[in-house]
Parts: sequence; structure tokens; C-alpha cells
Amino acid sequence: MEKPKHHMLLCASFRVGGEPKGYCHKKGSTGLLQYIEEEVLDRGLDVLLSTTGCLKQCEKGPVVVIYPENTWYGGVESEAVVDEILDAIENGGTADGYVL
Ligand code: FES
Repeated sequence: MEKPKHHMLLCASFRVGGEPKGYCHKKGSTGLLQYIEEEVLDRGLDVLLSTTGCLKQCEKGPVVVIYPENTWYGGVESEAVVDEILDAIENGGTADGYVL
């Protein structure tokens, strides 16, 4: 597999034992996984989605980080917010309303 152009990290609040228990998971972050994967495919974006443990920004979660831009987003609670972030990736900008 070639390295992706963008790597999207979605906080799933995994704890040491692997169980998703923290704030972002409770706020529904993992419920967005399928939507993000489908949107990335539909849009033909070169984005690899990975879930992570706590990114230490819990009070601002759910948190998404985009690399290599190193753009951190908070309040990613809905498909509409995901759309704004993916629009930003597509257009080379940022979803300013959600940047941390
Ligand atoms: S649980 Fe997501 S930043 Fe802490």
C-alpha cells in the first residue's frame, strides 16, 4: 500500500485494555466511522482513517486530527461537521469553525 496523502485520526477514547470508554466515544465519535469511510470513498480522497486512544483534548471532543497538516478539530459530533472537514481537505483549507 502506498502512503496516503492525508491521515485522519479519530479519537475513539481507547483505554490501555482496548476498550473505548472516554469522552469522544461517549459523544458518538465511533458512530461516525462508517460515514467517514463512505464519504472518503465517494469523494475519491486519498485519506486513511484511523481510530486512536485519548488525544488529551477531551473537553473539546470528539477530536479529529489531520496529518500532515497537523490540523486539530474539536466538536466533531455530526456528519455535517465531517463534511466540513472533508471539504477542507479537498479544497486545501481548514474547517475554521472547529479548529482547536
Ligand atoms: S477521549 Fe478523545 S481526546 Fe480524550
